[in-house]
Amino acid sequence: MCFVLFDIPKFPKKIYNSVTKTLKGIKKMEFSYDNPTAIEFGKGKIKELTNKISKDKKILLVYGGGSVKKNGSYDQVVKALENHTFFEFSGVEPNPSIETMHKALEIVKKENVDFILALGGGSVIDGCKYLAAAAKYDGDAWDFLDGSAEVQDALPLGVVLTLAATGSETNHLTVVSKTETGEKRMYFSNYSYPQFAIMDPSFMATLSDRQLGNGLVDAFVHTSEQYITYPTTALVNDGYAETLFRGLVKLSDTWEDRRTDAWLENLMHIANQALNFQIGAGVPQDWSTHLIGHELTANYNLDHARSLAVVQPYLLEVMGEEKKEKIAQLGKNVFGIENNNAAVIEAMEKVYNKVGVPTKLTAYEIDDKVIENVSNALIKNGYTEIGENGTITLDKVSTILTMSMK
Ligand code: NZQ
Ligand code: ZN
Repeated sequence: MCFVLFDIPKFPKKIYNSVTKTLKGIKKMEFSYDNPTAIEFGKGKIKELTNKISKDKKILLVYGGGSVKKNGSYDQVVKALENHTFFEFSGVEPNPSIETMHKALEIVKKENVDFILALGGGSVIDGCKYLAAAAKYDGDAWDFLDGSAEVQDALPLGVVLTLAATGSETNHLTVVSKTETGEKRMYFSNYSYPQFAIMDPSFMATLSDRQLGNGLVDAFVHTSEQYITYPTTALVNDGYAETLFRGLVKLSDTWEDRRTDAWLENLMHIANQALNFQIGAGVPQDWSTHLIGHELTANYNLDHARSLAVVQPYLLEVMGEEKKEKIAQLGKNVFGIENNNAAVIEAMEKVYNKVGVPTKLTAYEIDDKVIENVSNALIKNGYTEIGENGTITLDKVSTILTMSMK
């Protein structure tokens, strides 16, 4: 018998390309993993940019609201490209909108741009993944988000990363919003892998504490969503995920060192590894904290990581029976807690709180329609039975949000 274990509605199964076969109770791994993104990691690695893009390419350099001009990355990129032809597009907002990216698309078309260079964090990168695919599509590229079309081609994309959190720099996931309808959606495509990612932790020096805390929490939840499901026989996945967890716990314990090179390097490295989908290959996954969190961001503009931290502890409590073995394993191997799953969830909350990220929805300006708004959006997206077993239904989502507001 063969089960697809994380068949989230609207995501074509082959996108995940990962199943676990159950044979008389023995779980057998099976997966495909093909990540073509080259990584250049470390201080000064921007010098590699010059040779990463052929000189006959017409490049569109894309960035956000201007932080890149304060952290030195913009100047370094411009210098590295001094003998290349490039145009610029700025103003990609956090939680990037397709409306903004359509303005960039006009430049791509007008100037016959044939290479996209993203300079920034997850929002700029995701906006550029969408742009690269939209440039090669005749219809409305929102089709990729509502599942009515799959990406068949895309312009080549390179990334210079300035914020450690999402892992978008070396993965095939795109998350964008449509301002017109207030929707935030995602899609996977192998055409979305960047050709390269330049990751210089020194560009993170200008990040605020809030952004550093957000990055740590996002990476923790990414690791969780590929780990806290039910036990498998996958030793590599479990062992590596636990290494990433322990690294993040250590970073939260040494929060006072967050401006040191070593701290920033480790956050950049761990956040990257937490979402290149390697730890999720061949094992069940549960992206429900993200699916619920995305609706909180879409409706109430919570930072992405903050939307996760107000959902996950209560989701783990509500789903505690189905997830009890992996919560216990996390407790034992990461926090040194045995036979007390409630204490494990508390320990996770403490990690988030230590880096300044609240775990209660009441920390934000929300209204009394939050459950209704999130539920309606989940219904609209077809996410009414989520989680690794499809058992997180809307009544459970309602309980989770209610607990977060107590
Ligand atoms: O716009 P600028 O001026 O650049 O400022 C940005 C932005 O305001 C600023 N920033 C970036 N680098 C900086 C800096 N400020 C000072 N110094 C620097 N070095 O940080 C702010 C937030 O940036 P953003 O890119 O939005 O953050 P993040 O990397 O957390 O990305 C969040 C987006 O990624 C999506 C989220 O939903 C959200 O839309 N995600 C993408 C994923 C993926 N593609 O794999 C997975 C994630 O789970 C997530 O859903
Ligand atoms: Zn995330």
